[in-house]
Amino acid sequence: MQQSAPTAENAGFHVPHHVAIIMDGNGRWAAQRGLPRHEGHRRGVEALRRTVRAAGEMGIGVLTIFSFSAENWSRPATEVRELMALLRRFIRHDLAELHRNNVRVRVIGEREGLEADICRLLEEAEQLTRDNSGLVLVVAFNYGARQEIARAARQLAADVAAGRLEISAITAERFSVYLDAHDIPDPDLIIRTSGEQRLSNFLLWQAAYSELVFVPVHWPDFDRHALQGAIADFQRRERRFGGLVTRTGS
Ligand code: FPP
Repeated sequence: MQQSAPTAENAGFHVPHHVAIIMDGNGRWAAQRGLPRHEGHRRGVEALRRTVRAAGEMGIGVLTIFSFSAENWSRPATEVRELMALLRRFIRHDLAELHRNNVRVRVIGEREGLEADICRLLEEAEQLTRDNSGLVLVVAFNYGARQEIARAARQLAADVAAGRLEISAITAERFSVYLDAHDIPDPDLIIRTSGEQRLSNFLLWQAAYSELVFVPVHWPDFDRHALQGAIADFQRRERRFGGLVTRTGS
């Protein structure tokens, strides 16, 4: 599988460059089957593998996944431990294959406060894949958009205080340079699974002109077909960016 090239199946099928996903509904998926929540998360990782593969094959440039939010620490300690263990396992088990498939891994979110071995794994994933030219997989881990914006504001204020930046030079464009992964274009499409219709502190700055698609399946059931459905929905939207009509995907 070569992640960077669209397949014949998708020839002529305009895909959004950047797709971001709020992978929601693991717990409900498990509850509906009388299974423990961690089984929902475990099956969620399988859905993630399928989706990364499909995204690469469809020619999507960037896939951002919300894998642990800054607010998820408020869950029971056992569930937090399970989510940390799944991340460890995902990187240890899947990193070599991601690398083989030319995927470049980036990580956004707050590293401070994470266990040292998790930080090392995130760093290793970024370092190993830094020269890859296929799909960019942005893992939002310990991520919260308000926290990201506050971090950016702190750094910007420090630059002003040190005389490196004039207050009059602060524009939206200049501000965005202080955000995590500022070199990555804003998401064209944000998908949330499980039927919930909110952003939950995900990419609030970057979502200004994203198209939002809410898919009524729980994350463990998400697959290529569901991704294609969300993209087809996106393609029916008219994106105007505050101006006049331009067609999506063109
Ligand atoms: C939402 O389901 C999902 C999460 C909080 C975490 C997403 C995590 C995965 C898909 C697996 C882990 C992957 C990595 C790489 C760490 P929920 O628990 O909020 O579901 P619910 O709303 O139905 O309870």
